[in-house]
Amino acid sequence: MSDTLAILGGPPVRNQAYPQWPVCDHEDEAQVLAALRSDQWGGYPEPGPFNHQFCQEFAAFQGAKHGILMANGTITMEVALKALDIGWGDEVIVPALTFAATAYAPMAAGALPVVVDIEPRSWGIDAEAVEAAITPRTRAIIPVHTGQIVCDMDALTAIAQKYNLHIIEDCAHSHGKRWRDQGVGCIGTFGSFSHQNSKILTAGEGGTLLTDDERLARRAHSIIDCGRPKDAAQQEYTFGCNYRLGELHAALLTSQMKKFTRQMDERAANAYYFMECLAQVPGVRALHLDSRITRLSFYRFIIAIDPEAFGGATNQTICDALDAEGIGCWVGYEAMSNYTLFQPHLSRLPVAVHYAEQLDTRKWSFPNAERAAFTEQIYLDEGIFRAGKAGVDDCIEALLKLQRNCDSLRTLHQKSA
Ligand SMILES: Cc1ncc(COP(=O)(O)O)c(C=O)c1O
Repeated sequence: MSDTLAILGGPPVRNQAYPQWPVCDHEDEAQVLAALRSDQWGGYPEPGPFNHQFCQEFAAFQGAKHGILMANGTITMEVALKALDIGWGDEVIVPALTFAATAYAPMAAGALPVVVDIEPRSWGIDAEAVEAAITPRTRAIIPVHTGQIVCDMDALTAIAQKYNLHIIEDCAHSHGKRWRDQGVGCIGTFGSFSHQNSKILTAGEGGTLLTDDERLARRAHSIIDCGRPKDAAQQEYTFGCNYRLGELHAALLTSQMKKFTRQMDERAANAYYFMECLAQVPGVRALHLDSRITRLSFYRFIIAIDPEAFGGATNQTICDALDAEGIGCWVGYEAMSNYTLFQPHLSRLPVAVHYAEQLDTRKWSFPNAERAAFTEQIYLDEGIFRAGKAGVDDCIEALLKLQRNCDSLRTLHQKSA
């Protein structure tokens, strides 16, 4: 059979589609129908019955005392900051390689996001860079457990304790992960999860905040429910708004929750097999998995490629070629210094509080994040890890095929440059 790259007209390595996402069954239909037939479609009174059930189950699964379900996994972080009374004049440290939401959330709360570089092995936020960025205004750190990794929570917790800071873990990619047997999102003051359509525990939209702190949980409930007091005894109002999620979505989350562990375990088993197979593929590595990660879960599985092993081609060319071979993938997020989706100057914050200098992205430079984003980073679709060993074998074969065709890749890369 011809070994010509599929992007150049050859036969693709994989002809069969990988399993689609999201998936639903009769149980999901029944739950949504039950919500539809009830007299509460929306999120008020907050929390509704399905909302309450999901929060109890998800918080227990992850290991937190309280869960607060809301409209998405961006406002979860904004609400966490507001519940902690973090806003005007405060600084929040975020990583340079993440989705725009992580940096947007502090701005939405009125605080300045202070962006720091990632560390080169795992691409998690660099704890040394975090410590170096702390000022008297710093109030919180938002580490992001991207893809399959968990940031070094021991180092970050030590820093947070030393400087009296809060940690809000951005766990949008991390449902089910454990760090030293503790569920992620339960190590910091708050954990923030997304249930957006592509996420691994989804209702199309939604987000959950986890916390062990009862008072903060009540404040978060209040902030998402127009400021209504959630403490019968103290009648404490907050400055809130309507960020509630409706019961149809919450109902879907209760049935998706039932399938979650099986899906997570299936992906993890195939990911371990994939990591073994990667030994045959020079110049491709999985992001470093810290031995303190005691349960693997992921939204996308992230690999780093060395262009030298692909004729000098970088991640965009390789993704295009892999896609043509039937292997779903994506180059991932841009670095914060070059992020088309993150435009802080469009907010009033730079003008209003003289943050123009700090929010001028042209002045930012994050070498590790930039190298990852421009050159090395590839997010492999989760479906690759739900198609048995054959699904993984096809991905490995496609990488090897690209390497056998590195001259063609070099030409493709030069044309696209
Ligand atoms: C790292 C990260 N944080 C936050 C979010 C925001 O989640 P949502 O889309 O639910 O607002 C995402 C979504 O892609 C994400 O990837």
